[in-house]
Amino acid sequence: MTISTPHAADFVAKPEALAVRPETPFDDAWIEHLHEVSFGPGRFARAAFRVRERFAADPSLCWIAELGGKRAASVRMTPISVGGVNGYLLGPLMTDPAFRKQGAGRTLVMHVCDLALAREGIAFVLLVGDQAYYGPLGFAPTVPNAITFPGPVDPARVLVHSADAEMGAKLSGPVARFITR
Ligand SMILES: CC(C)(COP(=O)(O)OP(=O)(O)OC[C@H]1O[C@@H](n2cnc3c(N)ncnc32)[C@H](O)[C@@H]1OP(=O)(O)O)[C@@H](O)C(=O)NCCC(=O)NCCS
Repeated sequence: MTISTPHAADFVAKPEALAVRPETPFDDAWIEHLHEVSFGPGRFARAAFRVRERFAADPSLCWIAELGGKRAASVRMTPISVGGVNGYLLGPLMTDPAFRKQGAGRTLVMHVCDLALAREGIAFVLLVGDQAYYGPLGFAPTVPNAITFPGPVDPARVLVHSADAEMGAKLSGPVARFITR
């Protein structure tokens, strides 16, 4: 599948010291701490967290970015479906405050999106986040309130990335379990 959306490498000067690798069980405690630092005490009430509570993340799409050999950022992806269409929910994406603004976040987003969208039967990557950050990475708005989460979300922050430019207009329904065919 050809993805014509932008790649991090197009606009991020990727430092030599930046590398990505799959998450391992040894990262669990560090990721949990980063989650607390990044989202605070309200983190468990977030709608995206509630989705991830119901459906397990896909370990093959949970990645770590390292800067200079030190853990800098984390991203996880959860398989979901919306309106009978399979895709992934991206998040949480978090960069250690000591390593921000060095391209780690954007590199991880583009890396896991490329991996996911190259898979057969995967039509989209969905997330709840800021258009200003994710727009340049290929994420587009969805129809306000068309996609429902297990908890309130700001409809303007529900964004989708897909090889199909119309995906944002098409997706409708609750965030549901990934459909195994
Ligand atoms: C958002 C986050 C992951 C970005 O990580 P990062 O590794 O610093 O990201 P990058 O280095 O790839 O990009 C940094 C750039 O994005 C900008 N940026 C960061 N958050 C942004 C936001 N919410 N909206 C718009 N721009 C944002 C930075 O100002 C910086 O801009 P610059 O390149 O002009 O200096 C990090 O700030 C973070 O962990 N925040 C707390 C958790 C969070 O909000 N996660 C996203 C949930 S949707």
